[in-house]
Amino acid sequence: MPRSPTIRQLDVQVLISDRTRHGSRLWSEHGLALVIRCTYDNGRLITILFDTGASSPLLRHNLASVGLSPGEIDDVFLSHCHHDHTGGLPALLHDSSATFNLIAHPEITRRAVSLRGSLKPVGPDPAMWEEIPENRMMLLREPVEIHPGVWSSGSIPRRTDFEEPRRKMFTLRDGRLVPDDDPDDMALWFQLADGSLVLLTGCGHSGIANTVRHAADVMETDRFRAVIGGFHLIGADDERIGHTNEEMEQLNICELITGHCTGPKAERVFAQNMGDRHSYFHTGDQYTFGK
Ligand SMILES: [Fe+2]
Ligand SMILES: [Fe+2]
Repeated sequence: MPRSPTIRQLDVQVLISDRTRHGSRLWSEHGLALVIRCTYDNGRLITILFDTGASSPLLRHNLASVGLSPGEIDDVFLSHCHHDHTGGLPALLHDSSATFNLIAHPEITRRAVSLRGSLKPVGPDPAMWEEIPENRMMLLREPVEIHPGVWSSGSIPRRTDFEEPRRKMFTLRDGRLVPDDDPDDMALWFQLADGSLVLLTGCGHSGIANTVRHAADVMETDRFRAVIGGFHLIGADDERIGHTNEEMEQLNICELITGHCTGPKAERVFAQNMGDRHSYFHTGDQYTFGK
């Protein structure tokens, strides 16, 4: 039986994030989108868009600036329903060249709302989902290897006692507000040729320690080449940040690359404790693994 191809090189480019570099031709906003190019040892290339930022004009502008046409995207992976990750999707749905599969958790289409301040939706208009051809909508509840060495996490078990769900988030169901713990939150990870993992997270609403542990369990390895994304520790208290930092130290993570909703307080703690192994991502930054 022919062996399945392995990932020779993984390129992660920050297409949209909250932090911008002076002089960058890319625009920034509160949101996240990453372009991942996965090159296999047989020469095959797969391009994945991980989240879409918050708005269509910005996604369109930044895609054009990096020279990526919607028709070249194999998969759009949505980490969860929140506006700042799904808001750019209409730009792709209305592009005639687009043929991507959309990969997300089945709960992504629920009506998620927030009661922080005022009652408001936190996800897209449900009508948006109807625009995606049903046979290209891959809603996955379990961990699945969507391409060789590329894994969609499925539901992330909540195991730690310090990563509590956020209050004031609900699902609107039959006229009732049912507490919502972000059941659609998913991560995406890549296994490099040496067996180590590169893990991407959108907001990490399941808790970053829960997320990394889940990947380690599924893959039966604790070797993480990098963990990249938003960890949603903005507004977290010192105790939670401290516990998270201890967990990150215990796990075998070479590099922690944070931005978006991680928050300055947590980033300072990671920087103090991890030194060179921690960095901040900005829109336009590029990372290459496995070379
Ligand atoms: Fe976010
Ligand atoms: Fe979020």
